[in-house]
Order: sequence, then C-alpha cells, then structure tokens
Amino acid sequence: MTKSDNPIELVILTGAGISAESGLGTFRDKDGLWTKYDLAEVASPKGFAADPGKVHDFYNARRRNASEASPNAAHTALVELEAKLGDRMMLITQNVDDLHERAGSRSVLHMHGALSRARCAACGATFDAPQVMSADDPCPCCWNNATRPDIVWFGEMPMHMDRIYAALAECTLFVAIGTSGTVYPAAGFVAEARAGGADTLELNAEPSAVASAFADAHYGQASQIVPAWTREVLAQFE
Ligand code: OAD
Repeated sequence: MTKSDNPIELVILTGAGISAESGLGTFRDKDGLWTKYDLAEVASPKGFAADPGKVHDFYNARRRNASEASPNAAHTALVELEAKLGDRMMLITQNVDDLHERAGSRSVLHMHGALSRARCAACGATFDAPQVMSADDPCPCCWNNATRPDIVWFGEMPMHMDRIYAALAECTLFVAIGTSGTVYPAAGFVAEARAGGADTLELNAEPSAVASAFADAHYGQASQIVPAWTREVLAQFE
C-alpha cells in the first residue's frame, strides 16, 4: 500500500459504546441486545432466509429507537475534531444508527451499514429505507419482494474495507471508542495501525478484548473521556 499525497493522520473507530449514553443499547454489555435476541436469527443471511419478518421487526425497532435518540457529547466532540482536521481524519463506525451525522459529522464510513438504507437482495439496488420495512416491500428498481436492511450481517463482508485499510496503513494515530474488540475485522484495526507505525489509543468504559494491543488508554464514560481527549488534541492547534 502506498502513502497518498494527502495522508490521513487520524483514524477513529466507534462502536456501540459511543451511543450508549444516548439511550441505545450496546450488544454485549449486561442487558445488551445479544442477551435478548439470538444473533443467528436476526443478524445473519440464514436467519433472514428463515424468517424475514422477524429480522425486519428487529431492525424496525432499532430504527425507531435510533430516531428517538439524540447525539451525546462524545458524538459532538468528534464533529469539532473533523472541523479542524477535515480530510486528514477518517471516522469509521460499526454503528448502524445515524447519531454521528445528526451531531454534524460530515464524513462517516458505516462499515456495518446503516439503518437509514435498504438494499434489494435480488438486483443489488440500494435506496433510502422507510421507517418500517416489511418482507412484502417491493424493490423500487426491479419490483421483486426482496428488500432487506442495508446492514452487514454475520458472515457478510463489511463495507469500505479498501479505504479503511489504506488509511490504517498511513495514519499516525488510531483511536477506538466504545467498542468491545470482539468482532473482526474491526477488532484487528489496532494491530493494522500499529504495523503501519501509528500510535494507538483506546477510549472505552472498560478494557476491551484487544486492550493490550493499544499503546495508551483512557477508561470512563464516552461523554466524558471523548471530549476530554478532543480538547487535548485541539489545544495542539492553538
Ligand atoms: P459491544 O456491545 O460489543 O461493545 C460495546 C463496548 O462499549 C463495550 O466494551 C462497553 O464496555 C463499552 N461501553 C458501554 N457503554 C459505554 C459508555 N457509556 N462509554 C464508553 N464505552 C462504553 O459493541 P461493538 O463493539 O460496537 O455488528 O460491537 C461490534 C459489532 O458487534 C456491532 O457493530 C454489531 C455487533 O454484533 C453487527 O451487527 C454486524
């Protein structure tokens, strides 16, 4: 991978922990979504083939919860950083909510897809998702009843991976926020960034499964530790 003319200096990866204080449940904490739902039933191609209505019900509830939630101070802090760094920063999220965008982030890579988008499993067209999706919705392009959330399920390839690996190879700092470090490939980003020579920082409620791979860490609530860290970074520009 070659270094580009306009390198990305800072790569930030966010996970469900950044949206927890906005009232959206994480996946693996106590009372997390995967303690209430069977991941194989609601977040896999096999589960969708077996019972598309159940999968739509699950994501319709996620879409409703996300639309009722508001961004918190951690989302807002990253907007201020983007305003300063522009395209020297890449914000990647594993989250399917749109709280980064609603806080004001202009460029967000949703590597696990987005609740706001739908996809046709028959022709591959993507389009804005209605607030409530159903197995009977026809695709607006080919009219097959094969629409699904444009979300990456287990066993599927995450999105934007070429751009992400290129940025990890050239960045000088990689920061992971609110992610348990248990789902790959995202959990492997810290190792990729280190291999490229980057400094690494974990901001999380507790040490993640890959905490030992980070050079530095701050533990606490995202709404506190993320603005504290961005203030430090922004102070370097003053
Ligand atoms: P997890 O639920 O696995 O982890 C959330 C992390 O956030 C945990 O390490 C918590 O300690 C931390 N956390 C919780 N509240 C926090 C707070 N207020 N401030 C800071 N940290 C907090 O969520 P992810 O790592 O995002 O994928 O999960 C990764 C992927 O697994 C998701 O994108 C989803 C899921 O299955 C798919 O559905 C494909």
